[in-house]
Amino acid sequence: MWPSIPIILAVLVASFSPVAAKDHRKSCTIKGGGSNVTDDAPAIMKAFRKCGRNGRVVFEPTTYYVNSVMNVSWLEDVDIDIHGTLLWSTDIAYWLNNSMQVGYQNQSTALIIGGDNVRINGYGKGTFDGNGDYWYQWIREQPNTSNYPGRPHAVTFSNLRNSAIRGLTFLRSQMWTMSIIQSHNVLLDSILVNNTGNWAQSSNTDGADTIHSSHITFNNWTVYNGDDSLSMKANSTDITITNSKFYNGLGIAMGSIGQYKDQFETIERVTVKNIEYYNTLHAFYIKTWTADQNGYPPNGGGGGLGFASEMKLTNLTTTGLRGAAFAISQCTRFSGAPGQGNCTNSEFQIKDVEIDGLSGTSESTRVASLQCSTVAPCTNISIFDTALHFSNGTDAEGYLRKRHWGVLGMSLIMLENAPNQP
Ligand SMILES: *[C@@H]1O[C@H](CO)[C@@H](O)[C@H](O)[C@H]1NC(C)=O
Ligand SMILES: *[C@@H]1O[C@H](CO)[C@@H](O)[C@H](O)[C@H]1NC(C)=O
Ligand SMILES: *[C@@H]1O[C@H](CO)[C@@H](O)[C@H](O)[C@H]1NC(C)=O
Ligand SMILES: *[C@@H]1O[C@H](CO)[C@@H](O)[C@H](O)[C@H]1NC(C)=O
Ligand SMILES: *[C@@H]1O[C@H](CO)[C@@H](O)[C@H](O)[C@H]1NC(C)=O
Ligand SMILES: *[C@@H]1O[C@H](CO)[C@@H](O)[C@H](O)[C@H]1NC(C)=O
Ligand SMILES: *[C@@H]1O[C@H](CO)[C@@H](O)[C@H](O)[C@H]1NC(C)=O
Ligand SMILES: *[C@@H]1O[C@H](CO)[C@@H](O)[C@H](O)[C@H]1NC(C)=O
Ligand SMILES: *[C@@H]1O[C@H](CO)[C@@H](O)[C@H](O)[C@H]1NC(C)=O
Ligand SMILES: *[C@@H]1O[C@H](CO)[C@@H](O)[C@H](O)[C@H]1NC(C)=O
Ligand SMILES: *[C@@H]1O[C@H](CO)[C@@H](O)[C@H](O)[C@H]1NC(C)=O
Ligand SMILES: *[C@@H]1O[C@H](CO)[C@@H](O)[C@H](O)[C@H]1NC(C)=O
Repeated sequence: MWPSIPIILAVLVASFSPVAAKDHRKSCTIKGGGSNVTDDAPAIMKAFRKCGRNGRVVFEPTTYYVNSVMNVSWLEDVDIDIHGTLLWSTDIAYWLNNSMQVGYQNQSTALIIGGDNVRINGYGKGTFDGNGDYWYQWIREQPNTSNYPGRPHAVTFSNLRNSAIRGLTFLRSQMWTMSIIQSHNVLLDSILVNNTGNWAQSSNTDGADTIHSSHITFNNWTVYNGDDSLSMKANSTDITITNSKFYNGLGIAMGSIGQYKDQFETIERVTVKNIEYYNTLHAFYIKTWTADQNGYPPNGGGGGLGFASEMKLTNLTTTGLRGAAFAISQCTRFSGAPGQGNCTNSEFQIKDVEIDGLSGTSESTRVASLQCSTVAPCTNISIFDTALHFSNGTDAEGYLRKRHWGVLGMSLIMLENAPNQP
């Protein structure tokens, strides 16, 4: 009994002192200019410079107009409270000219946030509004609509460590909602993304993309979009996705990967649990480039090396799935490349995928569609406990079992490769 008292005292001292210290931290509340003719970015940057290290930065419940790029890459032990809306300007020529490099695929961004021990909280109200309707309409009039140089991501978390982002809403992002690059130990919790266009259909508006990052947790996300709900790209390891809902998009994507010739990249240890899908194309899919290099990133490439491994998914529920619940395609190639692409020559290997518990409704006759490389064959791919039914309710018990890879109430392990099977 006695020896434990000093320990209790030590714990009390340790847990009280930071609270006392916090009260004396500097705090900056940002005043908005109140109209989009005034750029609020300089005032925001000023607050970050003053209170972005060992302090607090507060956005009031008002609209802030952001007309220029912001690079806040040096935060340290800071609370950022967002009670209002940040609205990005629609000066497309400005953004194409000034958006900042992300560091992968020639992608660029309107806002960079990085640093150590950063706590951003939107309390369910804070909003980043990319004004994307203008971008969605504009991109339709361009010759190349995919990965257009200079079209910015709403936010890039770059070199962000030991941090948490909570309770934020992202509306109509300019392009991808967020890229997470060179970041480690980051929790993104209770995030709503709505990239549904008001007057033009959105394109290339991924919910989030991870690149060269580890220990990233997505919990309680809701994403409405038309592209990858979430996507793990080059060197994404120890990624967790839980308790989330994805609407209309393509589902959770691994890749595309293998875009850089001869570069070795991996995706390792991805855990997905308790996900609901509504009207998405897939629940989970993996896409790699072929071994044939055609052009260069952002939109061309191929010939990459590496592997994706240890992906475990449990308790997936679908409503009105539009395609195969699980898909592997190793056929990604430059749209201008000749022929159909060689779907069997990728040197990037896919292995150790386990889907345990997949139920709900689908409009597709396929549970899984596997188009694997013969050069680096897929191994150890399994689906257990599948209970998918047609949305129109016409499938009798056993229908999927007879014709497809799903097995009602039973287990199924697939170990074969299916080259060139559509
Ligand atoms: C300011 O808002 C008006 C409409 O509310 C819009 O037409 C104009 O393009 C906006 N300007 C910027 C710089 O976003
Ligand atoms: C784009 O950048 C160039 C070079 O910095 C500059 O001359 C031009 O005015 C810029 N255009 C816009 C729309 O910002
Ligand atoms: C962002 O700011 C950091 C620190 O000032 C700098 O090192 C980095 O190059 C900047 N990033 C971009 C893309 O401008
Ligand atoms: C569009 O793509 C073609 C190749 O298909 C390329 O030559 C051209 O430079 C691209 N244009 C733009 C504006 O990116
Ligand atoms: C990369 O992006 C810049 C602008 O951000 C653009 O000028 C350049 O053409 C792009 N390169 C390729 C290969 O698309
Ligand atoms: C999940 O996120 C939503 C916002 O999309 C929020 O309203 C809800 O309270 C969160 N749920 C929990 C349990 O935190
Ligand atoms: C998403 O945005 C669209 C277009 O403004 C709107 O109709 C829809 O209600 C929004 N969904 C949610 C969940 O806020
Ligand atoms: C990606 O990960 C692989 C395997 O760990 C490593 O060899 C490679 O250097 C990494 N690439 C980058 C750009 O960090
Ligand atoms: C499966 O996920 C749903 C949400 O999609 C949740 O309500 C349910 O409790 C989960 N079941 C288990 C066994 O965790
Ligand atoms: C596709 O790649 C495989 C493996 O390298 C090769 O054997 C085959 O000939 C290629 N097919 C075509 C049509 O080029
Ligand atoms: C197969 O993959 C699953 C999921 O990653 C893993 O748990 C299991 O250990 C793997 N089995 C073998 C024999 O490698
Ligand atoms: C029900 O849906 C399945 C899958 O989309 C389709 O193949 C089948 O023809 C549909 N049956 C009827 C009667 O519409």
